[in-house]
Amino acid sequence: MTDPPPCGDRTGPVGLCTAVRGTLAVASAFVTAALPPNHPFPGLLAADSAFLRAARSEAAPHTPVWFMRQAGRSLPEYRAVRGPGSILDAIADPELSTEITMQPVRRYGVDAAILYSDIVVPVAAIGFGVDVAPGTGPVVAEPFRTEADLSRLRPLDADTDTPYVVETVRRLVEELTPMGVPLIGFAGAPFTVASYLVEGRPSRTYEHTKALMHGQPALWHELADTLADLAIESLRSQVENGASAIQLFDSWAGALSPPEYEKFVLPHSAKVFAAMAGYGIPRIHFGVGTGEVLTLMRDAGADVVGIDWRVPLDVARQRLGDGPALQGNLDPTLVLTGWDVCQPAVDDVLHRAGDHPGHIFNLGHGVLPDTDPAVLERVVKRVHAS
Ligand code: CP3
Repeated sequence: MTDPPPCGDRTGPVGLCTAVRGTLAVASAFVTAALPPNHPFPGLLAADSAFLRAARSEAAPHTPVWFMRQAGRSLPEYRAVRGPGSILDAIADPELSTEITMQPVRRYGVDAAILYSDIVVPVAAIGFGVDVAPGTGPVVAEPFRTEADLSRLRPLDADTDTPYVVETVRRLVEELTPMGVPLIGFAGAPFTVASYLVEGRPSRTYEHTKALMHGQPALWHELADTLADLAIESLRSQVENGASAIQLFDSWAGALSPPEYEKFVLPHSAKVFAAMAGYGIPRIHFGVGTGEVLTLMRDAGADVVGIDWRVPLDVARQRLGDGPALQGNLDPTLVLTGWDVCQPAVDDVLHRAGDHPGHIFNLGHGVLPDTDPAVLERVVKRVHAS
């Protein structure tokens, strides 16, 4: 790639690269046509950001970069404001959630913000009885096991059940738009959310979830369909309040064989992606250990496929063809080992992405809590300068 234009400074009122100004009219026409008429996002600056261009597989002035879990325990400023309570309480406080979402944007100059929330927020909001235990993850007091448990899941009305998410998204869009930084909204995919509801806690084997799939397929499909509807309603409210892209996290889909994925999971994730198609925003699909199901995850309706560190990007590109953009895929543990080890690994990811314009740099999974933010700062600089 050629030298990047001076896009690094995001502190000014309008962090817009000269190089992309000329294409604004075209891009904004595309975006305003695709977004619903009540969309509050002016669409001009972020619409032509490197992140959204790469997500649409259009040439960008530099390779965009953001990190899953860029907000969180690796940042001292996060630990300073987070407080001792449940993460669900922090998420219910729009002022705090806005601040936490902005922290990595300010520190790193990443090309996108991701809403500070969690994949269990919709199920918690409808009263299923789920909390997030620090150091463990989502825990459910009474797991989903029988048909009777379906009655514990009602439809979500995002405006009344999660008004704090709506408020946080609005505040963020107001703050990010003048910076030219898009906001990524997200939801948990039906399989990954179901795995928490059915297992009751994080699992290595997913044994109860798979027993439900194979042993009571009708009940499984009803559960997954209900969770797809929750994800759709949550994503709808995030996008209609200004999010510029969405990511569907099917973090644990790598536990499934391709036939299992195709039969029990793909139809439900495809329903979520289809419901979001009309907004004209990029749809990202991510999971860990998903090398064997990558093409199926693409076929579910993704514009961007997230790749973990196990599949080199050139191999992922061969498997997926030229259609989707790719997001990834530096091993998060290599960031822990310091810059000397990290830099060649960053360069290798960039090299393997090749000259296809659809590459969004990310880690292969979330930032680990012991990560030194100074190393991530160097990763961002290196990617932007490539
Ligand atoms: O920066 C971001 O990526 C945005 C924030 C975000 C969080 N959770 C905040 C969070 C996002 C996108 C999520 C999604 C999420 N939550 C996923 C999918 C992404 C992934 O990691 O694959 C999953 C599987 C969850 C469930 C979950 N929530 C887990 C496994 C954990 C870790 C438990 C722990 O304490 O180690 C959480 C808690 C959580 N969600 C934290 C954060 C910043 C850390 C805990 C805290 O500060 O209380």
